[in-house]
Amino acid sequence: MNKQVQRPRRSVLYVPASSEKALAKIGQLACDAVIVDLEDAVAPQEKAAARARLAAVFSARPHRCEMAVRINPLSGEWGNDDLAAAIACAPDAIVLPKVETARDILEADDALDDAPAPDALQLWAMIETPKALINIGAIAELGRDPASRLTCFVAGTNDLVKDTGITPGPDRGLLLPWLMQMVLAARAGGLDLLDGVYNDFRDGDGFARECAAAAAMGFDGKTLIHPSQIEAANRAFSPSPEALAEARAIADAFARPENISKGVIALDGRMVERLHLAQAEKLLAKAAAVGA
Ligand code: COA
Ligand code: MG
Repeated sequence: MNKQVQRPRRSVLYVPASSEKALAKIGQLACDAVIVDLEDAVAPQEKAAARARLAAVFSARPHRCEMAVRINPLSGEWGNDDLAAAIACAPDAIVLPKVETARDILEADDALDDAPAPDALQLWAMIETPKALINIGAIAELGRDPASRLTCFVAGTNDLVKDTGITPGPDRGLLLPWLMQMVLAARAGGLDLLDGVYNDFRDGDGFARECAAAAAMGFDGKTLIHPSQIEAANRAFSPSPEALAEARAIADAFARPENISKGVIALDGRMVERLHLAQAEKLLAKAAAVGA
């Protein structure tokens, strides 16, 4: 599949497929993407009814926002029914929970080969278990494989905390090594990377702080649980005015006739190389994509 076409994923809201009220809100929200959730947000006795709602949700989909479906694990009792229902809705992506090996992705890829428009369907992998982190390099390599639909990693921090037994501590200190491992792997595999959720949705200051930290760590966006988190995430994962001004200055400097053939130049007393130009161009493209 063509993995080059990328949209901004600053704010990605989970919407439980068990909540009619929440589902009805999707069209009014300013998030970059929505993950309609059939997994952890939906109680076992509600799984079938939640799945049956997907078709109506997708028939009313707003076209400005990317829409994904998180299914239950394919190894469990609901996964295959979820997958069939999701495929029928032609979402932008299917989010696979509890991915632990590259084989998990390959099996999902195989299952999608018979979808009506298989090339338009991406796979996003939740990284949320100790085993996923052990195997993350091999999983990420599928991002470079044109035959795989893997385009994005989604950090599942609540499950990671549960499975490891850690207490993350202030500013998620003990989670940081694993989050940075995800950053490295995602970049090695050319994948987008979304941070985990911030549970305390009434704490706007704490949320903004966590977004700023995640943006500095290299995450492309954050998964969200509540509409009140959208605006702050959009802001935090958009290029700042200062960063944009610097990127423009670098692009302008290399465009000057005397610098066209130079590999390295001085700009305001600092060394600037063509790798910085590439970085600046990437930032300018991102700004254009989010309308900054
Ligand atoms: N998506 C869309 N709408 C949402 C929403 C979401 N994730 N979370 C809340 N809303 C809506 C509510 O339905 C409510 O709508 P209303 O104004 O029509 O009544 C409005 O936003 C305000 O909600 P609020 O009363 O502040 O929160 P709540 O108590 O209804 O819900 C949660 C709180 C945490 C239960 C809810 O936000 C939620 O379910 N979040 C997603 C959880 C999830 O998907 N978890 C799995 C992934 S980690
Ligand atoms: Mg989870």
